[in-house]
Amino acid sequence: MNKNGKQVINQVYNDASNDLLPGLYMHWPYCVSKCPYCDFNSHVRQVFDERQYVEAICSELEYLATLQGDRDCSKPLLGSIFFGGGTPSLMQPETVGALLDYVRSRFSLVPDVEITLEANPSSVEAARFQALGGAGINRVSLGVQALHDKDLQVLGRAHGVNEALAAVALAQQSFARSSFDLIYGRHGQQLAQWRDELKRGIDLSNGHLSLYQLTIEEGTQYKNLFDRGELNLPSNDRSVRFFEETRNICEAAGLDAYEISNYAAAGEQSRHNLVYWRYGTYMGVGPGAHGRIERGGHKVATAAIRSPKRWMAQVKELGHGIETMDKLLQSEMADEMLLMGLRLTKGVDLAHLQALCGRSIKPQKINELVSAGLCEMSEKEDFFRVSDRGICVLNQIVAQLSGALDPV
Ligand SMILES: C[S@@+](CC[C@H](N)C(=O)[O-])C[C@H]1O[C@@H](n2cnc3c(N)ncnc32)[C@H](O)[C@@H]1O
Ligand code: SF4
Repeated sequence: MNKNGKQVINQVYNDASNDLLPGLYMHWPYCVSKCPYCDFNSHVRQVFDERQYVEAICSELEYLATLQGDRDCSKPLLGSIFFGGGTPSLMQPETVGALLDYVRSRFSLVPDVEITLEANPSSVEAARFQALGGAGINRVSLGVQALHDKDLQVLGRAHGVNEALAAVALAQQSFARSSFDLIYGRHGQQLAQWRDELKRGIDLSNGHLSLYQLTIEEGTQYKNLFDRGELNLPSNDRSVRFFEETRNICEAAGLDAYEISNYAAAGEQSRHNLVYWRYGTYMGVGPGAHGRIERGGHKVATAAIRSPKRWMAQVKELGHGIETMDKLLQSEMADEMLLMGLRLTKGVDLAHLQALCGRSIKPQKINELVSAGLCEMSEKEDFFRVSDRGICVLNQIVAQLSGALDPV
């Protein structure tokens, strides 16, 4: 995003915070083992040439930065950087340092830039935390997933509870900010057990938690187990109870439910993820990474090749592994903004929807969804959001809204 773009966004939000400054996502596609529920672009491979990966990422990043063509701003501004995976904590700290050196040479970083890395809590990875902090990481997101050894085994995780607790403590010493993930609604999990586990999680946490309800994804081992009736998961009604209890317990503990699965104390929200949910601009590099960049006054969706091998081969040939690059129509942008923004408790900024996508929601549809108790309008009528009841049918609401947008 160029300087002008940033001004527009600040006018729209009337907000001087860094939430909507452009972000950068870097994908590391490898893991020690594949978890049976996971459909992320992650692959098991023990040996990997990290120098080659650094060169390829820098080359792809240069390509995207040049495409955006910030002529009046030689070093475009970034507000957040996110190393996601896969398991980026498997990277050597020197690899992370080399990538950040390149980013600093090519972009301006805001003074309080947020630099997050996703980490698994094995002792090998935790031993790298200090060096990762030294390389510039200032926020870590740890995949704890469960606080019961047996459940960690069922989730196919490579760590146990004690290892996770040690990693959480070390993360809190090594990084300015830290968060961890838990998955709930697990095989055989009772609500009362989850309440206790969540309270323990909150006691251990440091201002941010990501709490994901288990979803069954196509193409995973869990999908096969589920189809064979071998997973005992909560019914739809029970899932709603799990979700509501999670939200109530977190809010009572001072962790604001700012997004469907994310809870934070004041000022601890993930700024990088807010860029996605508020439909800001971000570059995505690495196998399978997605981006939403600005080009010639338009928003462009980019997607890199998913297979690490094919991605690397194309980078060597063309200097980047981008597979598709689509200029988005305003109607497509409006659909995306609703899909992402309605995940936020605050909802979608209607002025932003108009300014960026030239669309407003038909008043009749707003009334219909509000009367049905599925959506709410903010007091100032500037944000439209999904109610607690509506969250469980979010996708249907987005589909209805998508068919009820007027050009302005
Ligand atoms: C890319 S993964 C995290 C990175 C790291 N490799 C890990 O597993 O801890 C991001 C998070 O998504 C969540 N997740 C992945 N698959 C999920 C599923 N099927 N249902 C619910 N949460 C899931 C997990 O909590 C995980 O920590
Ligand atoms: S470690 Fe994380 S990214 Fe890798 S397979 Fe497991 S859940 Fe997926």
